[in-house]
Amino acid sequence: MAKPEIDSVTGVETTGHEWDGIKELNKPLPKWWLWVLYASIIWSVAYWIAMPSWPLIADYTRGVLGYSQRTVVAKSLEDARAAQSRFLDRIAAADLAGIKADPELLQFSLAGGAAAFGDNCAPCHGRGAQGAIGYPNLNDDVWLWGGTLDDIHKTLNVGIRSGHPDTRDNAMPAFGRDQILEPAQISDVTDYVLSLSGGEANAEAAARGKEIFAEQCAACHGEDGKGNIELGSPNLTDGLWLYGGSRNEIADSIRNSRAGVMPAWEGRLSPETIKQLAVFVHSLGGGQ
Ligand code: HEC
Ligand code: HEC
Repeated sequence: MAKPEIDSVTGVETTGHEWDGIKELNKPLPKWWLWVLYASIIWSVAYWIAMPSWPLIADYTRGVLGYSQRTVVAKSLEDARAAQSRFLDRIAAADLAGIKADPELLQFSLAGGAAAFGDNCAPCHGRGAQGAIGYPNLNDDVWLWGGTLDDIHKTLNVGIRSGHPDTRDNAMPAFGRDQILEPAQISDVTDYVLSLSGGEANAEAAARGKEIFAEQCAACHGEDGKGNIELGSPNLTDGLWLYGGSRNEIADSIRNSRAGVMPAWEGRLSPETIKQLAVFVHSLGGGQ
């Protein structure tokens, strides 16, 4: 073998290759770099064997460790469920007052109830349960069907005019549409209803309306118009309106009746979730 040539400028051996007077220096790859390369190659082979890696026609190589992100997710879900079931079992066993009295269960229920509310109730009752025309505000202490824990729980389970066999149900007649009252009588009784909450009303018409009210309306709304929770009949004296308190809106309620519908949640949500929702709604500020 010829003696290696040393480049005179750098003092480094050349490879003997030369192009147009430019000589290639012999600078091998650093050792550490090569070792990293070899190690990576060995690692990759080990990885192919251990982990899912190669796509096949209809499947893939699963690797001897059998790792899959699906099993990881399933496992963490199972862990979460196990962590919750500690509470859910206790919620299933406790009555509503018991949940309310136990700080741990209360906290868990408020969080779970808030989440379930966002998923199931917010479309009708609003994100903050503030309600809208036709959908009651659940933050105030005005209740159609009662604001105790048990009342709320029952409302959730059976719904309102929901078709559930035990649904909360009461149908105000459509006094105009079904020609139970003359338009003039509806106008009079509208004045009377307006007067109940201090609205602007014609005193003479209201006096005539008062008689109609006693005959046609008091059975549900009460002699004094203060409503009846047994019958889901709203208080007409508090100035708070589910369907609006303008003259036109009130007359429309009387003419056509409203009959709001809320689905029953029994069977759609688990009993534990419904309990958590009842506790959550009760805590919103208007619970009785
Ligand atoms: C499809 C719309 C809709 C959905 C969804 C809905 N509600 Fe209702 N909810 C109503 C209506 C309408 C009423 C009033 C019915 C009436 O006029 O008596 C009502 C009434 C209520 C009442 C009774 C209020 C009172 O004053 O007595 C409670 C409590 C309630 N909803 C809670 C919930 C909760 C909790 C959820 C979610 C699990 C929910 N609602 C989902 C429409 C809905
Ligand atoms: C059979 C029972 C019943 C009778 C009789 C009845 N109501 Fe009602 N009324 C209800 C119920 C229940 C509601 C709530 C309807 C709903 O939420 O969908 C209601 C709602 C109303 C509302 C709407 C209240 C709001 O907050 O927007 C007005 C106004 C009203 N009634 C007036 C009358 C007047 C006036 C009469 C008599 C001419 C009358 N009602 C007779 C049961 C009755």
